[in-house]
Amino acid sequence: MVKTTSKWVCQQCGYESVGYLGKCPSCSAWGSFLEETTTKGNDFNSAANEFVNNDKPQLLEDIKINATFRIPTHISEFDRILGGGLAEGSLILLAGDPGIGKSTLTLQTCGQLASADKKILYVSAEESANQVKSRADRLEIKTDNIYIYPQTNMENIKTQIEELEPDFVIIDSIQAIYSNNVESTAGSVSQIRECCNILMHIAKSKNITTIVIGHVTKDGNIAGPKVLEHIVDTVIYFEGDKYKSYRLLRSMKNRFGNTSEIGIFEMQSNGLKCITNPNEIFLNERSKISIPGSAIVVTNEGTRPLIVEIQALVGSTPYSTPRRVTNGFDMSRLLQILAVLEKRVGLNLSKQDVYINVTGGININEPSADLGVALAVATCARDIVINEKTVIIGEIGLTGEIHPVNNIEKRLVEAKSSGFTSAVIPEMGKLKYNGKIKIIPVKRLIDAITACIKKGDK
Ligand SMILES: Nc1ncnc2c1ncn2[C@@H]1O[C@H](COP(=O)(O)OP(=O)(O)OP(=O)(O)O)[C@@H](O)[C@H]1O
Ligand SMILES: [Mg+2]
Ligand SMILES: [Zn+2]
Repeated sequence: MVKTTSKWVCQQCGYESVGYLGKCPSCSAWGSFLEETTTKGNDFNSAANEFVNNDKPQLLEDIKINATFRIPTHISEFDRILGGGLAEGSLILLAGDPGIGKSTLTLQTCGQLASADKKILYVSAEESANQVKSRADRLEIKTDNIYIYPQTNMENIKTQIEELEPDFVIIDSIQAIYSNNVESTAGSVSQIRECCNILMHIAKSKNITTIVIGHVTKDGNIAGPKVLEHIVDTVIYFEGDKYKSYRLLRSMKNRFGNTSEIGIFEMQSNGLKCITNPNEIFLNERSKISIPGSAIVVTNEGTRPLIVEIQALVGSTPYSTPRRVTNGFDMSRLLQILAVLEKRVGLNLSKQDVYINVTGGININEPSADLGVALAVATCARDIVINEKTVIIGEIGLTGEIHPVNNIEKRLVEAKSSGFTSAVIPEMGKLKYNGKIKIIPVKRLIDAITACIKKGDK
């Protein structure tokens, strides 16, 4: 019997309720509930249940697996974050802001895969075939292995996948497709979940590698449900400043590889180009004269140390509560660093606005940049210049002590090869590194500030 049920679903996090709620009890979003109807028997669990087979439990020991087969995309930075290539039969979610280059990256990937004689079905749910074709021309992709299918209905897509039997399926984007099983509009939580479950089933049962494109909301979450992240095998975020040409690819979840790597691209008129020497490029963007409030840090992104500039601006505030603004650095981390600067160093920031900017459009997620941020703020507040050939590495504890960081030798080697002559680093046992870079070991935040004042031009 077909039974229609209705429920209210938070469009931010997927929380379900029998009635309307103004505020979501799960994610605290306001006005995020939307009524969604599902037809029972065709509930979104149906697709998921299908690929759980009914066999008896098996002994773990008896299960035979084939080693995961990877298909390289030959886009070196993409392969880097995937862990060597696309795992066969996996479902990959590529998420990013509007206009960041998601369709460009996937189409370029299609071009590479097609040249390797793979058959690809590109479902374009947002753009016409002409639009995709003109992008392909601009990216100089010529191949007869890519099928473009402008379609938004999941059941039609499923039929075409079954007929065409492609090696790869691209869904551009998941927010634009809908399934007949769910009555709510495309882009709602139930639709996204249902469509994703169907795609997952196809990917696993037919061993078709599927890339699903997803938009992100203003606050940087994948639009609609966080639940989507649990369904797919791999979640990749495409980030960067839309108005600058650099783009960063970061994997947030990977069932087939590690998640610490990042890929760096530059957007050019004929597509995304891999950047294999990012430090050279980021440092070129740096102003040639030293300015108070600039600190160079060496973060460790996956297997690659990245040298980036942190800029701070500190000035007396016209507001009753001072402003704290960060770009590329975690806000709560900044607040913690400012609190340590006030309490342990005696720097009074309660009447000062603090702005932090990480250059190159990079988001730093690693604590080793703490000391650089603290020194950028402190030197800006005191109008001191940090020696422009010095890099700053270290994590700050609440007591103001500087904690050691991992891979210090690798960071120093990279700093040296990029032309830096000294490094402020946490005091730690014997260093294996004996290159020609002057080491300034510091135990406490106050020591680091003193060291910079001594080295400063003032
Ligand atoms: N002719 C061009 N020359 C240079 N860059 C271009 C050109 N056309 C588009 N771009 C770049 O490509 C970006 C759009 O790429 P793409 O369509 O792949 O993004 P998207 O993430 O798929 O966007 P959407 O969210 O709209 O689907 C633009 O923001 C711009 O940077
Ligand atoms: Mg697009
Ligand atoms: Zn919610």
